[in-house]
Amino acid sequence: MRLLVTGGAGFIGSNFILYWLKNHPEDEIVNFDKLTYAGNLENLKSIEGTPNYKFVKGDIANADDVAAVILGIDIVVHFAAESHVDRSIHDSAPFIMTNVAGTQILLDAALKNNVKRFHHVSTDEVFGSLELNDPNKFNERTNYNPRSPYSASKAGSDHLVSAYYYTYNLPITITNCSNNFGPYQFPEKIIPLAITNLLEGKKVPIYGDGLYVRDWLYVEDHVKAIEAVLDKGKIGETYLIGGMTEDIPNIEVAKKIVRILGKSEGDIEFVKDRPGHDRRYAIDWSKIKNELGWKPLHDFDTWLKKTVEWYKENEDWWREVKSGEYQKYYEKQYNNK
Ligand code: NAD
Ligand code: TYD
Repeated sequence: MRLLVTGGAGFIGSNFILYWLKNHPEDEIVNFDKLTYAGNLENLKSIEGTPNYKFVKGDIANADDVAAVILGIDIVVHFAAESHVDRSIHDSAPFIMTNVAGTQILLDAALKNNVKRFHHVSTDEVFGSLELNDPNKFNERTNYNPRSPYSASKAGSDHLVSAYYYTYNLPITITNCSNNFGPYQFPEKIIPLAITNLLEGKKVPIYGDGLYVRDWLYVEDHVKAIEAVLDKGKIGETYLIGGMTEDIPNIEVAKKIVRILGKSEGDIEFVKDRPGHDRRYAIDWSKIKNELGWKPLHDFDTWLKKTVEWYKENEDWWREVKSGEYQKYYEKQYNNK
């Protein structure tokens, strides 16, 4: 099989490529990525020069770039996106260009080239926010109610992918997953931000009252869930992917990281809240478990310890990422607390 992986130089895309080539050495992968601030070819250094792996720099929102790269492709696995809520609050334009217009261009090209599968990677944030005491969780029938420019743009992309199935019979699948964490995550997201700040002797900034809740999914569990959907998923279907069985508020996540690193809770500081901050996400992942036999390999604490270890052992990687443009972003996001 020839796979086109969009956004393969980002966090989840690079974990997917590394996993896939190790476990499906007979397949070929073309990694198509614009290399925005979030794209980093260092993540893929270990497979550079491998004959069945190729990197092509390009933009999913550019029809010519896409037309050139999709020739001969069997499966598209679409990760490329602007992915950070806080950046979408500063400027939503790139989110619409890449996540909505880019997805539409990719869908047209997939249709024209008769790809066997178009798999779209999306987020639980499209469903909006749950109350803390709500017994319900998001499931495949939950109505869309996005509340940030990021989640609105991902919702738009999901609707387009679904529309191409109903209108043109494009063989699609969609996964909506929760917050990922693990190796190679850009330290603008809370878990790598907290770990690397603590390792640098800085504080962990926690928004608002810290009682916001996310469902946490280890990136390799996510990659294996996508593998299960590519292998056994039903065309036209959506699968939700989550990692948790209980709620853990952000402040508790920060305290767990502080404890693993032997730091003090005084290293956590409360800062100004995010506008429109979704209170809680929770995922019912019984469909993928029951129908495709997928479940997370370990619990949150085990994966969190492993993740902290990775950042401790890969200091060169994150120090490089945290230099340059990142400094300006951090200043803008956190300077007036
Ligand atoms: P990321 O920001 O780490 O990486 C995104 C990648 O896409 C980067 O390599 C970037 O260079 C590339 N890219 C951006 N715009 C592009 C364009 N126009 N053309 C080609 N490439 C482009 O993101 P991630 O965390 O790896 O997320 C991957 C996907 O998973 C996204 O679609 C995101 O919405 C979804 N998702 C992520 C999470 C999470 O917790 N990280 C959770 C749910 C869903
Ligand atoms: P984030 O990692 O940005 O992912 P998302 O917004 O997609 O859920 O944030 C996860 C949670 O952590 C969210 O409730 C916002 C919160 N958060 C902080 O408290 N401080 C921070 O500095 C960041 C980046 C996030």
